[in-house]
Amino acid sequence: MRIYQSEDYKAMSRRAANIISAQVIYKPDCVLGLATGGTPVGTYKQLVDWYKEGDLSFAEVRSVNLDEYLGLSPHHEQSYRYFMQSNLFDHIDIKPENTHVLNGLAKDPQAECAAYNKLIQDLGGIDLQLLGMGHNGHIAFNEPGDDFGLETHLVTLTDRTIDANTRFFDSRDDVPRQALSMGIKNIMNARRILMVVSGEDKAEAVLKAFAGPVTKEVPASVLQLHPDVTLVADKAALSKLV
Ligand code: F6R
Repeated sequence: MRIYQSEDYKAMSRRAANIISAQVIYKPDCVLGLATGGTPVGTYKQLVDWYKEGDLSFAEVRSVNLDEYLGLSPHHEQSYRYFMQSNLFDHIDIKPENTHVLNGLAKDPQAECAAYNKLIQDLGGIDLQLLGMGHNGHIAFNEPGDDFGLETHLVTLTDRTIDANTRFFDSRDDVPRQALSMGIKNIMNARRILMVVSGEDKAEAVLKAFAGPVTKEVPASVLQLHPDVTLVADKAALSKLV
């Protein structure tokens, strides 16, 4: 595993964007696995800036997102589809038909999950998967205790994740209780993984994930078993690890 320590959030974002842009330049029709949440916002902003400056094109890139809330339409401001449009897709030259986010309004969530697994397979697998990490070590919506063998599945959010995500909604009651999420198996099948983490409040999770035992209780700890993981984090997030 490679660990890049950045001075602050801005430098972390720039470094992560560098790695993603290297992937896109190296393989223009690559499959990017993308994440939402607060942490990658700066990374996406940097990629948009480089696109606008003419340094980068996403014209052939395909993308698959990690997860989506169940029950939210793509037009809901807190849906992950909306997040991706407003933070990245609307500002770059990626073809809309090449962007894939799970459908939160799927009538049959199980069928939607099965179709998503097939989609990832049909795309030839994920070349680079971007990940954030929750305070409890969750990756995508894979919560402590979830099986490492799961593919895309329907999940019930833990209280802690609902608490953490309440900041994006008007009230805690508005946070959806379920989501559709890639499983650990989909993530581990990606050829390369890039995790971004920022802030002292994540330092304990970073320590447990990367220096603790590999355990279902800390989902991100499974990344220790992946052959090509890059962790890009700011000093505060790495304060307990290094
Ligand atoms: C988002 C996702 C989540 C977040 C995690 C960290 O697609 O899958 O696992 O990466 O909750 O979120 P932030 O970056 O907001 O701390």
